[in-house]
Amino acid sequence: MCGIVGYVGSAGPSGRPLDVALEGLRRLEYRGYDSAGVALVVPGGELAVAKKAGKLANLVEELDAHPLPPATAAIGHTRWATHGGPTDVNAHPHVSGRLALIHNGIVENYAALKAELLAEGVEFLSETDTEVVAHLVSRAYDATKDLTAALAGVARRLEGTFTLLVVHADVPDTVVGARHDSPLVVGLGDGENFLGSDVAAFIGSTRQALELGQDQVVTITPTSVTVTDLDGTPVQAAPYTVDWDISAAEKGGFRSFMDKEINDQPQAVADTLLGRLDLAGHLVLDEMRIGETVLRSVDKIVVVACGTAAYAGHVAKYAVEHWCRIPVEVELAHEFRYRDPVVDERTLVVAISQSGETMDTLMALRHAKEQGATTLAIVNTHGSTIPREADAVLYTHAGPEIAVASTKAFLAQITAAYLLGLYLAELRGNKFPDEVAATLSELREMPGKIQQVLDRSERVREIARWMSDTQSVLFLGRHVGYPVALEGALKLKELAYIHAEGFAAGELKHGPIALIEPGQPVFVVVPSPRGRNSLHSKVVSNIQEIRARGARTLVVAEDGDDAVVPYADEVFFVPQSSTLLAPLLAVVPLQVFASELAHAKGLDVDQPRNLAKSVTVE
Ligand code: M6R
Repeated sequence: MCGIVGYVGSAGPSGRPLDVALEGLRRLEYRGYDSAGVALVVPGGELAVAKKAGKLANLVEELDAHPLPPATAAIGHTRWATHGGPTDVNAHPHVSGRLALIHNGIVENYAALKAELLAEGVEFLSETDTEVVAHLVSRAYDATKDLTAALAGVARRLEGTFTLLVVHADVPDTVVGARHDSPLVVGLGDGENFLGSDVAAFIGSTRQALELGQDQVVTITPTSVTVTDLDGTPVQAAPYTVDWDISAAEKGGFRSFMDKEINDQPQAVADTLLGRLDLAGHLVLDEMRIGETVLRSVDKIVVVACGTAAYAGHVAKYAVEHWCRIPVEVELAHEFRYRDPVVDERTLVVAISQSGETMDTLMALRHAKEQGATTLAIVNTHGSTIPREADAVLYTHAGPEIAVASTKAFLAQITAAYLLGLYLAELRGNKFPDEVAATLSELREMPGKIQQVLDRSERVREIARWMSDTQSVLFLGRHVGYPVALEGALKLKELAYIHAEGFAAGELKHGPIALIEPGQPVFVVVPSPRGRNSLHSKVVSNIQEIRARGARTLVVAEDGDDAVVPYADEVFFVPQSSTLLAPLLAVVPLQVFASELAHAKGLDVDQPRNLAKSVTVE
């Protein structure tokens, strides 16, 4: 939820530590934007700290008004508030004596630790759990004069989730970090080194990175990186090269990251398909580290995910069940984890996550592993925790997604889930390689078709601008159109702060139709008339039913579907496709609509209120 950056190397090529920290925070701000702060280690043995409530811009303004001195090391933090409101005082870093500390996560036993410190006469300035840790590490350092050992020792006492970074005025060229259930990666430079919640923090300086595992401590100086476990035993961290560069993390001329990411979708789908078919037409999933015997014995698939990723799972259910004849359950990860689910050695649990760090999904994955299930991750972010812990991973290749609202990751997740379904279908004999190849060939046409939807999006934008005063919008869909409707509603809620709800169209008469009153806007995702005709005509009947009650109908239908025209106030046509692949097209107008309406209301489309990109606390 919070973004964390650390840097050492004042003589390195990246420039002043403060500038590196601010640049890192700028790139990590999507993780949380309740406050921002930095701490610098100043030559001569002092700390300099600045922190401000609100977005990073407030901190930059403060630093312009009150510049900080040159430094040898820096840590920076952008916050999504958990304990204590979003104020200057609660902003990180938290200082104790000559030490400054930043934190991502929640320390669950902070009250007991705080009581202990209060009893010893320690005074607290903030309401945060983090300040407790700052005091503990400061006292441990005073006792040992070893910053790494001090942080590791305190980390062993903490319950909950954390990434912690610490600097001390006594050790001017050093930043120490520790992680437990929260992300932290190392960036390797030349005469400089970096720490970040994700690689975006340092992608402008280096693409060489180290993955840190669970319960590890890292100490960086300008010329060294040392990793140990919490007991001080040395650990070999795995190096990797980040497969995207800084241009992928820029807006590229678009007015928002979300606009850019919507526009990136044809490429995201194409890249996710790339290189996954061999010359004989067989699917090649290189990262699939689960044996064929195990996959053949699977008798149930459970998808665990949250938010948009869960809707990708809903789409996958329709496709995988149809292609593989394996029952697929889709469950919100936070519900799955705590309801004693029935999973065993023959269950394949698929965790879908853009960030690879969503705590609810990670906990569900761990629970599934404990029950003996085989686990597979569909994840976008390399070096993240979920793929490290799953038995296998299928990476989506959407590139970095910066906007809080997920768009291109959704399309890439659906694409990866199709690949998984086709792979299983071929392996288990439900489909022959030529059938798989035929479906893949249709999949390969999808980037071009998504581009066509984007090229036609001006009318959607126009309607969205007209509707900027709308108070409520409903979304209806059926079959794979149902998760598309849910995703359309989620996009509008999170971006435009408008009441929006998605329904299965067949459910209308069981209650939701009571919401229809004259003028109520309703998006309807209509299935292809060429495939399941019965469903097409049923959804067209639903449109008639709501229109008869005064609804304003905004219909997403495929090219040539003239049957919807008489009952639609507006039709957004998308290219024809097979029913199961249609979500890749039908969702795009809904994304564009939500983004444009939020822009029209003057809202921050990339950083909607109260949200953060990676939800790393339960
Ligand atoms: O990183 P993840 O894919 O695990 O994130 C899951 C959800 O938090 C995420 O999809 C969220 O719902 C987005 N804000 C939706 O736009």
